[in-house]
Amino acid sequence: MSFSIERYKEESTRLDITGVAWEDVSRYPLAKGDLFCLHYMMDIENHVPLYLSHLLVTRACMDPILTAFLACWNYEELWHGENLGKLLNLYGIKFDTQDRIARVRANLGVQNSISILTTMAGSWLSKDFSAIYLTIGAINELTTLTGYGALIRKSKHPVLADLLSRIIKDERRHFAFYFNSAKEWLTDNPAAQRIDRWALDRLWVPVGKGVKTQEEVDALACYLFDDEQGEEELLAIDEKIGKLPGLSGVRLMSKALYEARARMAKNPGWGWRLIDNEAWAIAAPRHSPIDQMTGRRGVPVEALES
Ligand SMILES: [Fe+2]
Ligand SMILES: [Fe+2]
Repeated sequence: MSFSIERYKEESTRLDITGVAWEDVSRYPLAKGDLFCLHYMMDIENHVPLYLSHLLVTRACMDPILTAFLACWNYEELWHGENLGKLLNLYGIKFDTQDRIARVRANLGVQNSISILTTMAGSWLSKDFSAIYLTIGAINELTTLTGYGALIRKSKHPVLADLLSRIIKDERRHFAFYFNSAKEWLTDNPAAQRIDRWALDRLWVPVGKGVKTQEEVDALACYLFDDEQGEEELLAIDEKIGKLPGLSGVRLMSKALYEARARMAKNPGWGWRLIDNEAWAIAAPRHSPIDQMTGRRGVPVEALES
């Protein structure tokens, strides 16, 4: 698995959706679980610029190769979110993308700013912060593309499968960058390996957690991965990340699945009630009216709510 930043800069572009059969989106049904996952995935794709704001204040971004990657990556991720939103709209779910993004962000509240500060401070305290960030990037991209593959399998929706297959190609490139960069940082660097392992064991959370609640993360994990094939795929993610220097035997995604299962066993209905109750609608924020946040008054929010 090779990666050239020069080639990536040359070739990075918005998602090619030429020939996607958008007109057929509503011809095939999507289960409630599929819709739950699609909203989750769209929200996390659309959260990328805020995630980026956390990274740009860290010492990792002293590296010009990393910032070049992030400049292209951010643009590519934008079109993942846009196109997932488009598919949901065409399926018949009414929302305005900008309004939804603003609501998700408003719901983060002050926690988002605190998190930026702690990430920034933490990064300057450890010279090997990049090892942690790059490894987490690799896990997140690999989890994302594995999740899209699982949703293709679950939904059996041909247009969604076509769109997600195209997105997966981008995610594979993102994964290659992070994995190779993390490997480079960790090789022959026992101090970096130690702090990376410590951070993964204690601080790591599955992609989307923080924007989404634990129950939402569990609902997604169990909908997509709670069968034999799903579990194998999560174990394969751990195995791949375990190939990085110093991370042999690491258990992340499989552990997240087993913990989700345990919470479900203790609390019947946990996770699944979100899917059954169609909990993907985002509530209006309590403290940050969207028009104040964005300065825009033109979005007829009420008219969009179904
Ligand atoms: Fe993406
Ligand atoms: Fe990605």
